[in-house]
Amino acid sequence: MNIDDFNLLAKLIRDRSGLNLTKDKGYLLESRLLPVARQHNLKTLEELTMKLRSRPDNALVRDVVEAMTTNESFFFRDVKPFDQFKGVVLPHLLATKSATRSIKIWSAACSSGQEPYSLAMILKEEKAKLQGWNIDIVATDLSTQILSKAQAGQYAQFEVQRGLPIQYLVKYFKQQGDRWQIDQSIRDMVRFRPLNLLEDFSSLGNFDVIFCRNVLIYFDQPTKTIVLERMSRQLSNDGFLFLGGAETVVGITNKFQTTVNQRGLYQQAGATHKLAGS
Ligand SMILES: C[S@@+](CC[C@H](N)C(=O)[O-])C[C@H]1O[C@@H](n2cnc3c(N)ncnc32)[C@H](O)[C@@H]1O
Repeated sequence: MNIDDFNLLAKLIRDRSGLNLTKDKGYLLESRLLPVARQHNLKTLEELTMKLRSRPDNALVRDVVEAMTTNESFFFRDVKPFDQFKGVVLPHLLATKSATRSIKIWSAACSSGQEPYSLAMILKEEKAKLQGWNIDIVATDLSTQILSKAQAGQYAQFEVQRGLPIQYLVKYFKQQGDRWQIDQSIRDMVRFRPLNLLEDFSSLGNFDVIFCRNVLIYFDQPTKTIVLERMSRQLSNDGFLFLGGAETVVGITNKFQTTVNQRGLYQQAGATHKLAGS
């Protein structure tokens, strides 16, 4: 691919999704965008870039951007955040939010749904403690294609074999041919919405917990700062932020503080009720 075409595509993708493509990732553009070109009746990547320069239509731009997202996800990814959610954050919220009895959770960049569904299964297991509580899980992603998969709640064998405890598979999934369908009661706990983290998300309202895992890694530093600082505005004063294993707030924003002994878990810098030990 020539440098002008690379620059055109890299700029379009960065402007629309935040994904920062370096020149050594040119091969990714070729392998992922050729199928998109074909879907739009364009024979080559040169034809694709020509169309983007001359008469770009919304569907083509959307498909180009979505094709470049990495949607890797699995149930209870990395285990620890979900243990922290169940063992540290939930007891803390049950104690500090007893007046309103409401917990609002946002899975930002939820991909194919494993993250919000893992949270929903944990909350379902804890239902005795949550009697009379109002629980809301909102799950968003830029990619409308991956959101349709998330909403359907159907997974292949290899997907339910990655991270999902067998007792949850037995309890919350039904086999349908070669797919596994997640239970309607779990699906009903999650509201999926398309949302680009680069755009204003204040209309989503306020949350007690934000999972924003394994998406900031794709953004450059100024974009990480902007997104995290806007998230801080949507997080309640005593709320919690979960980031991915390769992500941090350190050196990016001072709106959040780390928590003692809880890697990947952050509180607002001015939180009133700090976690014990913080
Ligand atoms: C690697 S997945 C992470 C999924 C899940 N959070 C996890 O940790 O398993 C990254 C997701 O971020 C989404 N994404 C990328 N750029 C985005 C943006 N600007 N706004 C919202 N979602 C975005 C992608 O579509 C993809 O589904």
